[in-house]
Amino acid sequence: MNGSKSVQKQVTEKKENEEWIGLGTAIAVASAGALIVWGLSSLFSSGSDADKMMKAPGRDSYMRRRDFENHPSGYFRDLRGNRKMCSDRLCGSSLCFLCFSYLRGSLKMRRRAAEYRRPVESAEVEDFRHEKSNFTEEILSVTSFARQLGEQMILAKAYVIIAKEHNNLQLAWELSSKIRSCQLLLSKAAMRGTPITLDEAQPLVGSLSSLIYKAQDAHYDIATTIMTMKSHIQALEERANAATVQSTAFGQLAAEALPKNLHCLNIKLTSDWLRNPMMQVVAKEKKNYPRLVDNNLYHFCIFSDNVLAISAVVNSTVSNADHPKQLVFHIVTNGVSYGAIQAWFLANDFKGSTIEVQNIEDFSWLNISYSPVLKQLQDPEYRTYYSEASQDPKGEMKFRNPKYLSLLNHLRFYIPEIYPFLEKVVFLDDDVVVQKDLTPLFSLDLHGNVNGAVETCLEAFHRYYKYLNFSNPVISSKFDPQACGWAFGMNVFDLIEWKKANVTAQYHFWQQQNGDRTLWKLGTLPPGLLSFYGLTEPLDRRWHVLGLGYDMNIDNRLIESAAVIHYNGNMKPWLKLAIGRYKPLWERYVNQSHPYVQDCATS
Ligand SMILES: *[C@@H]1O[C@H](CO)[C@@H](O)[C@H](O)[C@H]1NC(C)=O
Ligand SMILES: *[C@@H]1O[C@H](CO)[C@@H](O)[C@H](O)[C@H]1NC(C)=O
Ligand SMILES: *[C@@H]1O[C@H](CO)[C@@H](O)[C@H](O)[C@H]1NC(C)=O
Ligand SMILES: *[C@@H]1O[C@H](CO)[C@@H](O)[C@H](O)[C@H]1NC(C)=O
Ligand SMILES: *[C@@H]1O[C@H](CO)[C@@H](O)[C@H](O)[C@H]1NC(C)=O
Ligand SMILES: *[C@@H]1O[C@H](CO)[C@@H](O)[C@H](O)[C@H]1NC(C)=O
Repeated sequence: MNGSKSVQKQVTEKKENEEWIGLGTAIAVASAGALIVWGLSSLFSSGSDADKMMKAPGRDSYMRRRDFENHPSGYFRDLRGNRKMCSDRLCGSSLCFLCFSYLRGSLKMRRRAAEYRRPVESAEVEDFRHEKSNFTEEILSVTSFARQLGEQMILAKAYVIIAKEHNNLQLAWELSSKIRSCQLLLSKAAMRGTPITLDEAQPLVGSLSSLIYKAQDAHYDIATTIMTMKSHIQALEERANAATVQSTAFGQLAAEALPKNLHCLNIKLTSDWLRNPMMQVVAKEKKNYPRLVDNNLYHFCIFSDNVLAISAVVNSTVSNADHPKQLVFHIVTNGVSYGAIQAWFLANDFKGSTIEVQNIEDFSWLNISYSPVLKQLQDPEYRTYYSEASQDPKGEMKFRNPKYLSLLNHLRFYIPEIYPFLEKVVFLDDDVVVQKDLTPLFSLDLHGNVNGAVETCLEAFHRYYKYLNFSNPVISSKFDPQACGWAFGMNVFDLIEWKKANVTAQYHFWQQQNGDRTLWKLGTLPPGLLSFYGLTEPLDRRWHVLGLGYDMNIDNRLIESAAVIHYNGNMKPWLKLAIGRYKPLWERYVNQSHPYVQDCATS
């Protein structure tokens, strides 16, 4: 009995060995993929906080903040000693290039070894060679420890996924922690530009091997592994694309430009609005609807010019509400989109909820003498600064986003002025999807605070010093640099407390102080952090899960448990460049069989 079992085992092992050759190919592809990601992420500051980039002191390049912070004195020693050492950025790009050339080549194991060095020797990379550290060769060399570690890491990562899927969290955790040590060692070696030694590699290679062995032993059959690897490789490719999209001027422009299908929808709806005087009569009647000011109902506000986006927000909110008829949506848009948005919300029913659409151009109180931001937005110098972005090849792309020229974006600071009779509202960005009943938000105790928001300093270290110029005494004398940041996108505002604390006046004050843009550069969050300082109540993070517009790695369980998911980032769900995994969560709230949506999708 025992004998036959062991024969059986040998046969299985043999079969597995054969499959391992195939797997070897997969690993090789995956590791090349990983190198691409590694290369790209060192070029661009995407991904986790640990990979955040900083300007390398004394060098004309960028480096990982983590690498600097781990060992600043070593860094400066290197800077003095080894001026030739390649910057992270160059290493990244040459590595990246090598990997792309490599990926294009044959996937056959045998031919590969010969091909490894070919790209290095080709004339195309001549330019990189002078500054390339040996680490590049090192990580590609078949015998190097760096490469061994790299390949083990890929395998280990695949097993982390498998282990998680099988709910073996302990193993997943052990593997992850070893992967992190590996990454640390690799980046250390890349920084100092010398190969990883046997002594350094041995403990890691050893412990990783035994963990991987353990994972294999835990009945994870090899077919599962290969399937997981395949999807992993696809994810890596998607991620490589994503890094490009997020970091280039093209990505920014693509995210900001109105896609053709949305433009088409706008035109069809606007012409409906103009041709249909009945609609205009109905819209006018609805202006005085008592439900709009009834504080026994639940009020939401959305400021946007994107009809599909607003529709998905409203639809997802009512679809998940216990009592949709008690919900009131207050939409403010601009003059260009007003007709289209009115037409859409008059023609479609949203479970009996009440919907108001206003045109920002009708707000006569929001004028230059009242609002400093309006004055700034109309200042030609200011406009040039923010719209010159496309001419600026590498610089402060994200600081110079034309989106910040939009007054709609700043309307969040005027909510009590827009709705003078309301006591509490929930503010929703147009790039969110609601997945739960939100009415409990209205009965949360805000402890006298104005703004209920999720904090963002827990895992991402988003503290005040990240957003504001603390070299400026105006800031450093009044604010704690370590104060925890929070997010706009899903906020509950107590408008009575807001008026008591004069938050809008605070906002005006800070916006005026920042006339020369030395306090902050970007958007509405920094003035929000200043205006709501000490007036923000932290909410449970499951109320609002962020990052679906840039982060490929959000845990599925976190997304499922979220009351609101937020596609902040460039990869909006209505764009072609949306992240595939998250797009259906938004799409299911758009009526795909609506004739206009269909016509415009194909045009
Ligand atoms: C690698 O390092 C050695 C010794 O430091 C040096 O002689 C050699 O030129 C380097 N190779 C490359 C390609 O930079
Ligand atoms: C500008 O706004 C202020 C208050 O918001 C208002 O009193 C004033 O009448 C407005 N001016 C114009 C020309 O509408
Ligand atoms: C808000 O402004 C009013 C009048 O402008 C002032 O009386 C009040 O003290 C201010 N409240 C706070 C908290 O600054
Ligand atoms: C930060 O504030 C200081 C002091 O006002 C100023 O000199 C500096 O230029 C500011 N930094 C930026 C990036 O604007
Ligand atoms: C609202 O969402 C539902 C799915 O929950 C969908 O069937 C419906 O078509 C959507 N309505 C509109 C107007 O997009
Ligand atoms: C989708 O739109 C079409 C056309 O307006 C409508 O007949 C249909 O009922 C809508 N479907 C849903 C689920 O709202």
